[in-house]
Amino acid sequence: MYIKRLKLKAFRNYAEEELEFSPLTNFIYGNNAHGKTNILEAVYLFAQGRSHRAKSDRELIKFGEDQARLTLEFSDSSRDYIADMRISASGRKAININHVPVAKLSKLMNYLNVVMFSPEDLELVKGSPYFRRRFIDSAISQLYPSYLASLMEYHKVLEQKNSLLKALRASGAAGDPTLSVWNEALAAAGSKLMEARAEFTEHINSAAGRIQEEISGEKLIIKYLPSIKCADITSEGLLDYLSARERREIELGSSQYGVQRDDLEIYVNGKEAKLFASQGQQRTAALAMKMAQAEYIEDIKGEWPVLLLDDIMSELDLSRRMYLSERIRDKQVLITSTDTDLVEGGTDTRLFHIENGRVI
Ligand SMILES: Nc1ncnc2c1ncn2[C@@H]1O[C@H](COP(=O)(O)OP(=O)(O)OP(=O)(O)O)[C@@H](O)[C@H]1O
Ligand SMILES: [Mg+2]
Repeated sequence: MYIKRLKLKAFRNYAEEELEFSPLTNFIYGNNAHGKTNILEAVYLFAQGRSHRAKSDRELIKFGEDQARLTLEFSDSSRDYIADMRISASGRKAININHVPVAKLSKLMNYLNVVMFSPEDLELVKGSPYFRRRFIDSAISQLYPSYLASLMEYHKVLEQKNSLLKALRASGAAGDPTLSVWNEALAAAGSKLMEARAEFTEHINSAAGRIQEEISGEKLIIKYLPSIKCADITSEGLLDYLSARERREIELGSSQYGVQRDDLEIYVNGKEAKLFASQGQQRTAALAMKMAQAEYIEDIKGEWPVLLLDDIMSELDLSRRMYLSERIRDKQVLITSTDTDLVEGGTDTRLFHIENGRVI
């Protein structure tokens, strides 16, 4: 799939701007703080329904304005789309695709898929389990809305269970019948999530392993590390597991087991990457995981996603850069950089020089 044209009005530091993209490489360059990432953020919004960095949608509206308006034209192998988004000061977003309102933001993922790479992706390897869960959840949710629905249901119930556990602990009570109601709901949603995560990790492991091997000759292994270690990952199996541990959770006053504590184990050349891999090896592993995610989208949807590379070229050494350039040569990619020396590519490369919220 590819994006053709982006129009921005009162979005971030853009008053009014229009960009027409090449179906291949688009190189967005300019000095710090002039608005390069804002462009990628706008495209990402159309794929994911929310910004990859803003806490509130209101931040997206240009200072002093009361509404931002964005339009994105894009195509996949079967048809053309025009998507229109208005973000109002109340923080509400209204989105139309081909002039039909999109009722739920999660529906956007049915249309446009993107994979964003940024320097913060190093956290995938180095950071807390939160970053790896977020990677898994966002990757699977992009393709399976039912996963997102289970995830939201799970977290809603988890919150209720946690307040109950807290109250039980405070009152010194031994139990409460509602606890098993929450555990049943968590087991039902949790078993679906665990199954999807295990399957996704297998996919990512084999693709990322091959990619890391191609880039650096190193052996990358990614394993799913579920918080609940039980042989029977069915709703019943998980319920038994949770029920057997009710006492302990009441004692501690919070939920101790479940997908909210899952993680991925990442090994480079047999050693745990978080602890032993060099910064460069960690970066390569993160890149391999993101490329694997792009391949996964292609496998499932039959469409290669739009790649958004935010400021990562300067962080890669020459051989990794060359690998990446080769890999993305026939794909659409938006690359930001402060450094024009990194521009490479043929006649299909389009350059955007960004200065103070303008393409000049
Ligand atoms: N709501 C807003 N209204 C107006 N300007 C904004 C708004 N939000 C952010 N900005 C401005 O946008 C600029 C940052 O844009 P962006 O993050 O795209 O920069 P960048 O070109 O990617 O920089 P870097 O090279 O440092 O990553 C800053 O100057 C910031 O003040
Ligand atoms: Mg930036």
